[in-house]
Amino acid sequence: MYQNVSPLHFPNGFMWGGATAANQVEGAWNEGGKGMTVQDCLPYREVGVADFTKQFAFSSQDLEEALAAGEDANYPKRRAIDFYHHYKEDIASFAEMGYKVLRVSICWSRIYTDPRDPEPNEEGIAYYEDMFRELRAHGIEPLVTLSHYDPPLALVTDYQGWYSRECIDLFVKYARTCFERFGRYVKYWLTFNEVDAMLRHAVTSGGLIEDRFPGMEFEEVIYQAMHHQMVASAKAVKLCHELVPDAQVGCMMTKLMFYPYTCKPEDNLATQQRMRSIYRYVDIQVFGEYPRYLLTEIERKGYEVEMRPEDTRILREGTVDFVSFSYYMTSCMAGDTTGLDMAPGNTVNGVKNPHLPSSEWGWQTDPTGLRISLVELYDRYRKPLFIVENGLGAKDVVSEDGCVHDPYRMEYLADHVRAMSDAINVDGVDLIGYTWWGCIDLVSESTRQMSKRYGFIYVDMDDYGNGTFKRIKKDSFNYYKQVIESNGENLSFEA
Ligand code: BG6
Repeated sequence: MYQNVSPLHFPNGFMWGGATAANQVEGAWNEGGKGMTVQDCLPYREVGVADFTKQFAFSSQDLEEALAAGEDANYPKRRAIDFYHHYKEDIASFAEMGYKVLRVSICWSRIYTDPRDPEPNEEGIAYYEDMFRELRAHGIEPLVTLSHYDPPLALVTDYQGWYSRECIDLFVKYARTCFERFGRYVKYWLTFNEVDAMLRHAVTSGGLIEDRFPGMEFEEVIYQAMHHQMVASAKAVKLCHELVPDAQVGCMMTKLMFYPYTCKPEDNLATQQRMRSIYRYVDIQVFGEYPRYLLTEIERKGYEVEMRPEDTRILREGTVDFVSFSYYMTSCMAGDTTGLDMAPGNTVNGVKNPHLPSSEWGWQTDPTGLRISLVELYDRYRKPLFIVENGLGAKDVVSEDGCVHDPYRMEYLADHVRAMSDAINVDGVDLIGYTWWGCIDLVSESTRQMSKRYGFIYVDMDDYGNGTFKRIKKDSFNYYKQVIESNGENLSFEA
């Protein structure tokens, strides 16, 4: 348990809420004029906790099979939790919990059926417009991610994913439409989810399939694709400032935390190097230029990353207003990992920390690491911080009384709230909000399971597509309501 060192206190107006992503909740993959996305093609595979690489492997052949499949049973993102048809009911439940903010993402392929279309798909626009109105009617601020791991499939089939520079203009056109059509409802925007992630899962972040780049160093391909995303993101930030002057735009990173496994200098160095690989793209989005360590790495590896002269100006003009991040766990780094136990993350591996408990999926829970992360980020960037993902994936069970009793989730929440309060009141961090990830059960990103549940609301659906989509409020539902009502000051509960 995290023991807070100062009384619990959060600023007035602190934004409590929940977070989702279109591909993990909406479903309705072929309705409303939506085009296909990469996510519609990712099959569910039963893999062990420690073997996520198999889940993430994706080849041209997998794509062909997905396109030929013609049904959705084995493609969980196609149905997800059918939020597309349930959003009014779900938003009413979020409002009952007292949410001030809901993080959602827009599916690019609902706004442009094909990213090259000259005109947007009005049905897709109407869907989001109605959702944003619904949120506003309940006093909930929308926090919107433009791209959360679901590149339009055409970027893969007709281009070379984000390796193709054309993606920049296509994305900016899409972003412009979103700002013009939704700007009056949405005042908080994020460009790309977990912007550091392309090296870990190239297809969902960058629309890149490795076998489509024969004879090329795949890492070099990723660096080029990342450069294009950086330029696209900066252009979108600038455009948002022009079109929606009262809006704020943030970047979004995976806030991984690694401790040196021992006090050996080599372990410390390995930790520092690993963290730089996480920070490098947020460094660009905050400071408006490539950090020297990244340029040095590109040069040292002999990679040719095309950066046009105008890109320097674009990056400088498109810096973000706040820094948002996901935080779930920590692990360790060692100079030499021989013989050490590894802890699985969703796509991240680190050395297992013997001092921390693990979730059923091997993620090591660490609220103190959240406080350390907040301090690190604030000292590095001096921008307001927003925790837009934090939560616990667990195997929930519907009891005979028809309820879901999940004290473990309440405990996880309480500990992280305590750590946040200390970061604000003891360490002087400017933290503006907190959205619990998967506030309603959704399809897992890494394992594509429904049985890895994060929500305060249970959804009756299993890993194989069986279920009624019925929603059941878990015990943690009322608990989070109490936390929000007391502005983070009442964390008591009886297990
Ligand atoms: C983050 C992603 O990496 O972690 C989410 O932004 C994802 O999309 C979340 O769902 C939790 O990971 P997982 O693999 O348990 O769904």
